[in-house]
Amino acid sequence: PAVSDERTLRVILANPRGFCAGVTRAIEIVEKCLDLYEHPVYVRHEIVHNKHVVESLRSKGALFVDELDEIPDGALTVFSAHGVPKAVVDEAARRTLPVVDATCPLVSRVHKEGQNHVAKGREVVLIGHEGHPEVEGTQGQIPGGVHLVSRPEDVERLSISDPNEIAYVTQTTLSVDDTREVIEALKRRFPNIQGPDVKDICYATQNRQSAVREIAREADLLLVVGARNSSNSNRLREIGTQMGKPSYLIDDASGLDPAWLDGVATVAVTAGASAPEGLVRDLVNRLRDFGRVEVVEQKGVDEHMQFKLPRLPQIGDRQRP
Ligand code: F3S
Repeated sequence: PAVSDERTLRVILANPRGFCAGVTRAIEIVEKCLDLYEHPVYVRHEIVHNKHVVESLRSKGALFVDELDEIPDGALTVFSAHGVPKAVVDEAARRTLPVVDATCPLVSRVHKEGQNHVAKGREVVLIGHEGHPEVEGTQGQIPGGVHLVSRPEDVERLSISDPNEIAYVTQTTLSVDDTREVIEALKRRFPNIQGPDVKDICYATQNRQSAVREIAREADLLLVVGARNSSNSNRLREIGTQMGKPSYLIDDASGLDPAWLDGVATVAVTAGASAPEGLVRDLVNRLRDFGRVEVVEQKGVDEHMQFKLPRLPQIGDRQRP
């Protein structure tokens, strides 16, 4: 569309948006390791699902790998925020790799819940999306494995030995609404099932979903800054779509298609939990190419969550003084 001086775009910024406490902690862990050790720092998997974050850490010296066999003996190894299966922890221990675990404490909490259920003799259903690294981690942290379901229909085909000894846990970044439907289906079929309701869905996911639902109501277009492989970012976009608003997930400002702005007066903008705030600023600046931009910050809830960093391993003389 033609750039028009007359045109005013109202941009509503969601609150909260962007980095959660688990992502902030994971990035700090890698930065600290890069600072403290002369030795190369290997990170298994993208530390968080955002290429801008990964590229920035790579430029500071972090080496990203898919699996442990790409890491040389003795090298400092960081596990990503999504968590890892027990087999990976065991393999790292067998090789005595010095490990720093950046698994989000809220993901670890879900692992523990699952392990407790198994200790009490229950079979565990995991509500989550197949193939996501968090789901692979949780599957591999629960002894005996889990039954993975993602939609209410999946509940019908579950084969459980004792319908009275069953529990569920969930991925932390699911849609609160979709998850509730799956839980209802589980409760209909297994009235004695134990579970946390939607409480495994982390505070950051829940807050970002509530915030975007509120601002999308007033908007003609929803833009979510986040990576395609970021679960929580995809859920934010889906909320806009479910509300009947044109909604797009973009990596950064370059992903904006000017045609989306045709006939649009109000744009709602949010960012997934692994998207840096700078990308939101860039997007707002890009929007200025299409008219006079008036930015409104949603009031929203304040987040005070903070997670402590884990203890870092001593790697003999390789550690900087
Ligand atoms: Fe943790 Fe939730 Fe962020 S599980 S990494 S606080 S999105």
